[in-house]
Amino acid sequence: MALPIVAGGKFFGVLGFSSSRPERRIPPGQLRALDVLARTAASAFETAALVGELRRMNEELELRVRERTRDLEMANHDLEAFSYSVSHDLREPLRAVEGFCEMFRAEFAASVPEAGQKILERIWAGAGRMTRLINDLLHFSRFGRQPLKCARVPLREVVEQCVARLEESRDSRRPSVQIGELPDCFADRALLEQVLINLLSNAIKFSAGRDDPRIEVGTLRQGADIVYYVRDNGVGFDMRYADRLFGVFQRLHPQESFEGTGIGLSIVHRIITRHGGRVWADSRPGEGTTFYFSLPRPSELGPGM
Ligand SMILES: Nc1ncnc2c1ncn2[C@@H]1O[C@H](COP(=O)(O)OP(=O)(O)OP(=O)(O)O)[C@@H](O)[C@H]1O
Ligand SMILES: [Mg+2]
Repeated sequence: MALPIVAGGKFFGVLGFSSSRPERRIPPGQLRALDVLARTAASAFETAALVGELRRMNEELELRVRERTRDLEMANHDLEAFSYSVSHDLREPLRAVEGFCEMFRAEFAASVPEAGQKILERIWAGAGRMTRLINDLLHFSRFGRQPLKCARVPLREVVEQCVARLEESRDSRRPSVQIGELPDCFADRALLEQVLINLLSNAIKFSAGRDDPRIEVGTLRQGADIVYYVRDNGVGFDMRYADRLFGVFQRLHPQESFEGTGIGLSIVHRIITRHGGRVWADSRPGEGTTFYFSLPRPSELGPGM
């Protein structure tokens, strides 16, 4: 007797039985058992075929992901090298513009009419601003290239040092800085310092116009994760433009009101994402801003972090 092994519309083979006593009919109970056996075999074959197919698809997918990652890494690397060399090469002619401006000012300024002097000042200021932008771009590209050296960081101590450094460089009104609970974290200390310096300097800059500038640094719990925050009661911004915050040279306030090139938050974003963390903001015009960031726990960091 032969039973076909069929599952999911596929034919896998035949299950054959023979009896040593062909004159005896197979009882219905045994027939049912043989039928169950054939069906079980069919579903085992089907599962095996599916597993094989799944494995093949998985391998194909992994290969494609590896190829895409390699392409992306190469494109990224090319772009970085390009922006680095362009910024680097631009510094030379700019230095010449600034140098000749200075020479001209020193030697001929007295004989140039006032209108000419004003134009010269604008050339000089423009070249100065371009130098700052280029230096910032070089500074930014450095943060994407140096390898991370992660270790336990005494965050409270780092925040206190950053606040002290920033207060030293300010002679105008000092904000009150409140430091809440700040447990140690696991990160590249030098890079985390850059994150805090940028967030704190923004908090100071954008709250300086208030009568009672206040800054608060602390942590929140979000499930098992710790979220760090830097809050100020400054000018704030419209959350409709929040997606621009972390772009290179993106600014939401005019240069005349607040100095800056718009590189600080892009450095923050790059450092935090390189750590595998997240950074985001919440703000209301006139009421203040809070920047949040999270860092993965050491167990979540992959090899090489
Ligand atoms: N605490 C804050 N309050 C209000 N607006 C902010 C705050 N932090 C950042 N912003 C907005 O985001 C923009 C980008 O910030 P970012 O730190 O990148 O640049 P910047 O401070 O203007 O210049 P730089 O940091 O290069 O000196 C700022 O110009 C400002 O419009
Ligand atoms: Mg800034």
